[in-house]
Amino acid sequence: MKYRLCAPCSFGSESVLRFELGKTGAENIVVKDGMVYFEGDENIIAAANINLRSAERVLILLAEFEAADFDSLFDGVYAIDWGYFIPADAAFPVKGHCLSSILTSVPACQGIVKKAIVEKLRKQHGINILPESGRQYKVRFSIMKNKAQIMLDTTGDGLHKRGYRRQSGLAPIKETLAATIVDLARIRENSRVMDPFCGSGTLLIEAAQKAMNMAPGLKRRFLAQQYQFISRSAWSQEKEKATAAIRKDIDFTANGFDIDPMVIDTAKRNADRAGVSKYVRFWQADVKSFSPAAGSVVITNPPYGERLGDAARAVQLAGVLGRRLEQNPVKSAYIITADPDFETHFGKKAAKRRKLYNGMIPCQLYMYY
Ligand SMILES: C[S@@+](CC[C@H](N)C(=O)[O-])C[C@H]1O[C@@H](n2cnc3c(N)ncnc32)[C@H](O)[C@@H]1O
Repeated sequence: MKYRLCAPCSFGSESVLRFELGKTGAENIVVKDGMVYFEGDENIIAAANINLRSAERVLILLAEFEAADFDSLFDGVYAIDWGYFIPADAAFPVKGHCLSSILTSVPACQGIVKKAIVEKLRKQHGINILPESGRQYKVRFSIMKNKAQIMLDTTGDGLHKRGYRRQSGLAPIKETLAATIVDLARIRENSRVMDPFCGSGTLLIEAAQKAMNMAPGLKRRFLAQQYQFISRSAWSQEKEKATAAIRKDIDFTANGFDIDPMVIDTAKRNADRAGVSKYVRFWQADVKSFSPAAGSVVITNPPYGERLGDAARAVQLAGVLGRRLEQNPVKSAYIITADPDFETHFGKKAAKRRKLYNGMIPCQLYMYY
């Protein structure tokens, strides 16, 4: 069976996600703001969850319709073949949001969606009481500009939860955003990567996993592994494929530096759990002694001030980084920050800039070649 699917991502990551999806065998890929739509069978659902680095989650798009009132919302949800997806004993929590629509009350819409599913399931399964004592099937809805989308989550905990980062520094970058930056920085299996503000190591760990072609989801479980309409073999086949695709002998190195010895310990543990410690090293060092080798690629997320509470120091550190890179020219540098005057503080205009979001914080990726 072929499903309509979609994967939300952070704004600015859409083209990276589109490219990643193409490699999974997904079909009819269409990009919208913060969302990529595609089609595929149960193997694509498994492959997308296991392999996508920049997506937040993978959803089955069950229906899309106009919903300017409660009746049309109810009818649109009721029309879905819920009996195929949700077994009689399943629990099916409903979550969603409304934006720029006539229907504005999320709890009211949640109630209508739930009621329509309950009525349809009672009819399709021929029972009066749905015990909701079994496995969980998570239903999501979105009502935007009066258009409703009804979805079934296949991921569970967001895809940024790779499983390797149990601890982090003060302001860690989200794994999915780090993966987007790694992609934009064109990290390859022979790259030399450096991060002078490495914190818990996220950017370098994502870089190493990309270089090794190691799927980010190999070590975790996904909600749809317990869905009855997706076969176990789809998951095991895709995990096997992803495991076989890992490159073990690559000429890749990454070095991370941070002034805080505690986060260096954390970064080492994270790299270990992520299975990349053979290629990634971490050192305690102040950025003022940062001396990257020529030919290396610098990817980094300097202190913002805003999040770490010290704007003046962040400005000063941007200047130090600028001077270190002037004295030690590298192949390229990709610096993500929320500082709108970063180029002034750093001392050089970027060759290219790209708007990205770190969670809710609008940032820019400054690219120097
Ligand atoms: C925004 S955080 C980086 C987060 C990292 N990308 C992660 O995912 O955990 C900035 C880091 O810069 C480090 N830092 C602050 N001042 C520094 C300095 N003078 N030299 C090196 N690192 C410094 C902080 O300890 C912090 O870990």
